[in-house]
Amino acid sequence: MIRKPILVTCGLPYTNGPCHLGHLRTYVPADFYVRYLRRAGEEVVFICGSDNHGTPVVVSAEEAGVTPRSLAEKFHSHFFETFKRVSVIFDHFGMTDDPANHHRTRAIMQTLIDNGYIYSKIVHQSYCTKCNRFLPDRYVEGICPHCNTPARGDECDQGCGRHLEPGEIKEPTCTVCGTRAEFRDQEHYFFKLSEFKDFLLSYLDTLDGTSNARNYALGWVTDELHDWCVTRTLDWGVKFPGREDLVVYVWVDAPVGYIAFTEEWAKKQGKDWKDYWCGDTRVTHFIGGDIIYHHGIFWPALLKGAGYGTPHSIIASGMVKVDDHKFSKSRGYVVWTNEDYLDKGLSPDYLRYYLLSYTNHTKELNFSWKVFQERVNNELVNTLGNFVYRTLYFAHKEYGGIPEGEADSRIIDEINQCLATVDSAVRQYEFKNAVDAMMGLAAFGNNYIQTNAPWKLIKTDRDGARKVIRNCLQIVKALALIIEPVMPGKAGLIWAMLGNRDNLSDHPVSDSVLGLAPGTLDPPKILFEKIDDTQLSELETLLAARVLAAGTIPEKKPEITIDDFSAMDIRTGIIISAEKVPKSSKLLKLQVDIGTGTRQIVSGISQFYNPAELIGKSVVVLVNLKPAKIFGIESRGMILAAGDHASLLKPETPIEPGTKIR
Ligand code: MSP
Ligand code: ZN
Repeated sequence: MIRKPILVTCGLPYTNGPCHLGHLRTYVPADFYVRYLRRAGEEVVFICGSDNHGTPVVVSAEEAGVTPRSLAEKFHSHFFETFKRVSVIFDHFGMTDDPANHHRTRAIMQTLIDNGYIYSKIVHQSYCTKCNRFLPDRYVEGICPHCNTPARGDECDQGCGRHLEPGEIKEPTCTVCGTRAEFRDQEHYFFKLSEFKDFLLSYLDTLDGTSNARNYALGWVTDELHDWCVTRTLDWGVKFPGREDLVVYVWVDAPVGYIAFTEEWAKKQGKDWKDYWCGDTRVTHFIGGDIIYHHGIFWPALLKGAGYGTPHSIIASGMVKVDDHKFSKSRGYVVWTNEDYLDKGLSPDYLRYYLLSYTNHTKELNFSWKVFQERVNNELVNTLGNFVYRTLYFAHKEYGGIPEGEADSRIIDEINQCLATVDSAVRQYEFKNAVDAMMGLAAFGNNYIQTNAPWKLIKTDRDGARKVIRNCLQIVKALALIIEPVMPGKAGLIWAMLGNRDNLSDHPVSDSVLGLAPGTLDPPKILFEKIDDTQLSELETLLAARVLAAGTIPEKKPEITIDDFSAMDIRTGIIISAEKVPKSSKLLKLQVDIGTGTRQIVSGISQFYNPAELIGKSVVVLVNLKPAKIFGIESRGMILAAGDHASLLKPETPIEPGTKIR
């Protein structure tokens, strides 16, 4: 049987802002995976493009006073260039606004209509009376109906992560002007996602990739599966067949981009895109954990409904945070790839190494410059760099290059073992384990050269020293080949320092155990430089300053009258008891004396306070907040707190519980 060719894709970046380190956790591991498979002899096509449509782009374009198309073009080039700078090299990088994608999206929509999977329905859609328009997706913010956290119009981005349908969000306000939105009726088109429940259950059961993708999606499918509104009232996007006033929802035409970009690539190459997308496929999606719902549920159902093959694997990373905060451009918790990293002269390979080896791929990655510095200095400089340099320096000094001879069988065994560990780890998407095994070989080499000290041995046993250095050179050669998918730039330098004039990437990783031809070598160069404390503190200061500056930017909220304020019953209270809410890391159940009696209040402050230390504390309480059930527990009121660490507000001087705040 002929195996289908592998097609690897990455979540398409929205063209509404620059590349940050969060993005790179999709692209770097995907590029690593592709490079490795190629080194291991597989034929792989690596496809990506930019996501130009949808409200993220329209809202940003409106804010910037430019057209969505020009914003899309600007950030399309930006991402393309940035990816090159970090050695993420796609075979093709398209745009979802390309004609090929308009065509493919409409064709798929038409097939779904013909197959009876699309129907129309009147929905209550958020509408802003001040801006005089409907408010699709990110034009509206409010409260998630599932978990009561603040959410965007189409997704609960800070809470449970669920996709939200138009009209579902509670307390919607317009993101442009801050006005409370009202609901108005409008006709929209729906995809019968609910009919795909059985298909999805069995599909997900055998889906390859990381377990988080499979398990989250399975949980959601088992839980509830609503039909999915696939049209929006916008000008920018792919027109819905037969309705010039509607475009398809961006989460339809964005993943269809994967197909359209394959078509664009195949046309250039004289290949057939259907080999990749029809029948059994080996389509492999790399994404972040935030978009599992779309890739694990909507997308396979859409493909199935339209008669295409379904993705073979979904590899979903954990999210990147900064200093323990969710990435947030508005709050300043962001590290920009160009401005904060590459433009500071830092090596792209350091970042690739850090992103791949920091933790398991599915775990959260909490970025900090301090840890970054430690990893670079201790591992890349002290272990890998040191070993390669010592080996090449000694070989050059004593032999003018690579002396005659070959490596011992136990060295070859060690390399083979590393190759096997790396191979099985990569194929299980355990990228950290793969990189750890590579560094294990570097540590072995470092240890070996230290223990055998050829610089001493040579004084008494010239031939013994030659044998030692031949072994070391073999390990250096292997390391160049093995680390290429992680650090292509540095690996290429090692390769060149070994006297090779050809491309490292033309060699299979199995060449690691082939001998080296004797020959002359230039003196080696320093490969890795330490990040010193001065530079570290500059990087840390920059981040801190940005967070500070962001804190002073006022939020866009409409003015209120004194009557609006008086409508709030805010009083002082005293916490009588506090306990953790079982199974929740964030919530505490509090009983608060508010003068007229005690109130039960559920508060999201568990990460910042021990229950015991809260008892007896004076607090400020919004008393007439509509009661809600949180985690099944009744909560009547809200404790007021400031900032990301929930600093509790308290009266300056001791005061009776129940005193009104005016
Ligand atoms: N446009 C959508 C994807 C459409 S795919 C058909 C999107 N764009 S994005 O620009 O927000 O993100 C691009 C990629 O980066 C996605 O794979 C996303 O999961 C990933 N990440 C963006 N921010 C991230 C973190 N903070 N952490 C980890 N990955 C995240 O989503
Ligand atoms: Zn939610």
